[in-house]
Amino acid sequence: MLSEKMFEALNVQANRELYSSYLYLSMSYYFESVKLPGFASWMRVQAGEELVHTMKMLDYVASAGGRAKMLAVESPRESWASPVDAFQQVWDHERAVSGLIRALVGVSEAEKDEATKSFLQWYLDEQVEEEESSDNVLNLVKAAGNDNSALQAADAKLGQRRFKFPRGFEIFPYAASLGLTIGSLKR
Ligand SMILES: [Fe+2]
Ligand SMILES: [Fe+2]
Repeated sequence: MLSEKMFEALNVQANRELYSSYLYLSMSYYFESVKLPGFASWMRVQAGEELVHTMKMLDYVASAGGRAKMLAVESPRESWASPVDAFQQVWDHERAVSGLIRALVGVSEAEKDEATKSFLQWYLDEQVEEEESSDNVLNLVKAAGNDNSALQAADAKLGQRRFKFPRGFEIFPYAASLGLTIGSLKR
């Protein structure tokens, strides 16, 4: 059985993951509004991944005998000055989330909770990927700058990203049904 402190810290992190999903969904609609459907689609896939991060963490809490809590989700901002501004925030946000995951690992160590520490390794690995992909995307969008044809090419490229469930997670039927809609934004 996990400590109350550990359950609480996991529930708080699940809430931050859901906020991440909300933030990227907000960015998706922002990109829709400025007619960049590829960037919008990329953000929608990103929002789906964050929802998986949320549920995976809440599933762990529930399977360990705790109560998964649906804490209130903060409202993200609704507009950005430019595509670079939005992708800069993605990069900053992912680095901040990496710090939160490391702090959570710190809680598991203080609680002498080896099971949770090992569960969190998945999130640490995921953050390495997230930081790398957000860095690549930021550089791509920065390179396009204000050149409209380069921006359209970047938009087409990012629009190719498809949602994939992490290994082992697709066994959940509700997650599989979610996969039918994520990333399939109509143009
Ligand atoms: Fe996440
Ligand atoms: Fe993330």
